[in-house]
Amino acid sequence: MHPEQKWKVIESLLPQDISGKSVLDLGCNAGYFSIKMKELGASTVVGIDSNPRIITQAKFVADVLKKDIKYEINNIYDFLFSNQKKYDYVLFVGLMYHLRYPLLVLDRLFELTREKLIFQTALSITSFPAESSNLEIPDNFGIEEKNLFQHPEFPKMHFIEKNFNDDFSNWWICNFEGAQSLIRSAGFRILKRSENIFICEPKATRTSTLDYSQLMEKIKKT
Ligand SMILES: C[S@@+](CC[C@H](N)C(=O)[O-])C[C@H]1O[C@@H](n2cnc3c(N)ncnc32)[C@H](O)[C@@H]1O
Repeated sequence: MHPEQKWKVIESLLPQDISGKSVLDLGCNAGYFSIKMKELGASTVVGIDSNPRIITQAKFVADVLKKDIKYEINNIYDFLFSNQKKYDYVLFVGLMYHLRYPLLVLDRLFELTREKLIFQTALSITSFPAESSNLEIPDNFGIEEKNLFQHPEFPKMHFIEKNFNDDFSNWWICNFEGAQSLIRSAGFRILKRSENIFICEPKATRTSTLDYSQLMEKIKKT
């Protein structure tokens, strides 16, 4: 999908003016959203992408349009776990399904997002529901109630072992409820949603208490 279509939806959900705000654009590609966030008034915009060729394009476009944007070739894991800086707005658009460890990243984004997370991912459904799911999931349920997993509105993530859409780096496609519950379980509150784009804010507390920075250090040492 051309980023312009996604941007129209994102823009309709954001304030008209984000003057003074810092923005982190993860998986920024050639920087379409980075440029747009700068045009909305962001004071600093940082774009991260692991593809060097794409970052060269992004820098070229920013130069031509005279936009002061800092682009970095980096893997999202290395960037997020070596960086302690918080950003007012974090764009996490079109990236979750490319990650083998999406929850690790979402949990870390809770720690680094000051105001808003803009979350978008590919979903397994073909049309977006107008309303959120009505399925009541009990706080606890047992193995004898596992039929609940078959309910169409039970949160699901489909793991893709081979290729999807001719792309080996597509790992996870979730349903609508899956996207919502991932966002919530990482500690975000969903403020607004249109189609598969969610505007979220970090809650004051979250249930998960794992220190992911320490965890990453341990993973790196082993
Ligand atoms: C589907 S594109 C989305 C681009 C843009 N955010 C948008 O929504 O139009 C995914 C981008 O994420 C980048 N990417 C994928 N895996 C990454 C990773 N682990 N670290 C950093 N960038 C990654 C790809 O190079 C690509 O530019």
